[in-house]
Amino acid sequence: MRLAAVLSCIAPLFILPVCSQTVYTGDILSGHKVISRLDVDDLPYNSYTKLWLRMTLNQIGQSYHVPIIVAKGHCDGKRLLLSTGIHGDELNGIRVVQRVLKDIDTSTLQGVVVGIPQSNVNAMYAGRREFVSHFETGVLTNINRRFPGNSTARLAPDRYVSILWNNVHNVNNFDSVVDFHTQTSNYKFPNFVYADFRVPYVQTMAELTGADVIKIDDGSSALGSVEVVNDASGRPSITYELGSPLLWQKDQIQRAYDYTFRLMANLTMYPANSDSGVVSEFEAYRSKSFYGNAFDFTNINTGGFVERYVDLLDVVHKGQVVGAIFNVFGDKLKDLTNSVDGVVTSIGTSPLLSASDYIINTIYFSNDTKCQYGGC
Ligand SMILES: *[C@@H]1O[C@H](CO)[C@@H](O)[C@H](O)[C@H]1NC(C)=O
Ligand SMILES: *[C@@H]1O[C@H](CO)[C@@H](O)[C@H](O)[C@H]1NC(C)=O
Ligand SMILES: *[C@@H]1O[C@H](CO)[C@@H](O)[C@H](O)[C@H]1NC(C)=O
Ligand SMILES: [Zn+2]
Repeated sequence: MRLAAVLSCIAPLFILPVCSQTVYTGDILSGHKVISRLDVDDLPYNSYTKLWLRMTLNQIGQSYHVPIIVAKGHCDGKRLLLSTGIHGDELNGIRVVQRVLKDIDTSTLQGVVVGIPQSNVNAMYAGRREFVSHFETGVLTNINRRFPGNSTARLAPDRYVSILWNNVHNVNNFDSVVDFHTQTSNYKFPNFVYADFRVPYVQTMAELTGADVIKIDDGSSALGSVEVVNDASGRPSITYELGSPLLWQKDQIQRAYDYTFRLMANLTMYPANSDSGVVSEFEAYRSKSFYGNAFDFTNINTGGFVERYVDLLDVVHKGQVVGAIFNVFGDKLKDLTNSVDGVVTSIGTSPLLSASDYIINTIYFSNDTKCQYGGC
């Protein structure tokens, strides 16, 4: 990429011999050191480091290891954490973190970028959203409701989360945290952001995405998520949903890649990308971002087969027939109508639904004061 301007900073003249706080276990896996705690302070300036964070033991007595990539600039500056793979069926963010970390020129970077390309190794291995505990007949846990974790809890996922939280997220003085997701299996999102505008800097982080849809969201329906718990700990954070599960979608990945460099420029960590194509694409996207603070799910109250008559980002109206449900013989049971005016921001991809599932989720802007910060 072309770089607009060269940032200047005072290069560190000497490094005080401080006690290393990164804890190395002494093991090497696939050529990279295993740690039980990361402290970016004791990594060298102008360096690119690949590490494994040692996690809980699994049911066959082996440790999970979470890959960690650290790009440390030539001098101090802001610190950015890029998290992804919290859900094991969401893959676009992996490629974003890999590509961003590879492409950062650490001799230009001020500050530190830490990437976690695969936070929930257990769920990735199972190819599903949840952490799978081999406890009794099996327990499925959405770890994005379990932060900051609990090291003495009974279930492994709570312990697992506490290792990630206590040894990476909460100890490196990050200034900003982006947690990349996608929709879950059998559903899809556009380029979509959850952001709590009450937290300083979060609105800027969201605006810089140029996402198709930005949900102003107070986090009340996602307590224990990476975003909400980092926000509450003084680290502005967004949840950035990149389209569909189980795919590497090049367009979604590129948008998040360009975003990350834009965010780094905004944090004065890196020169702005002046490539006119990238800049104009962002301006075009940003001018179309839809801001909403309320969701409306079109639920079905029975099981069966659905046909959908709308798609992502369609503008829909109250009373509009958006789908229909059929029984196994193909008899139409009923039409499904939308109950608000808004934009389709999430949609199922499977024709098979069970009771209480939704076929589409419509986002809209509500003037109701209780929705002001997006608790609707
Ligand atoms: C952590 O788990 C232990 C064991 O279940 C429980 O006693 C404790 O209250 C939990 N701590 C927190 C902060 O929830
Ligand atoms: C960061 O982005 C916001 C929102 O676009 C903008 O108002 C602000 O000037 C930017 N700051 C820097 C340092 O680029
Ligand atoms: C909210 O208020 C704005 C400005 O008064 C108005 O244009 C908009 O239609 C209102 N939205 C709803 C959903 O009532
Ligand atoms: Zn997710």
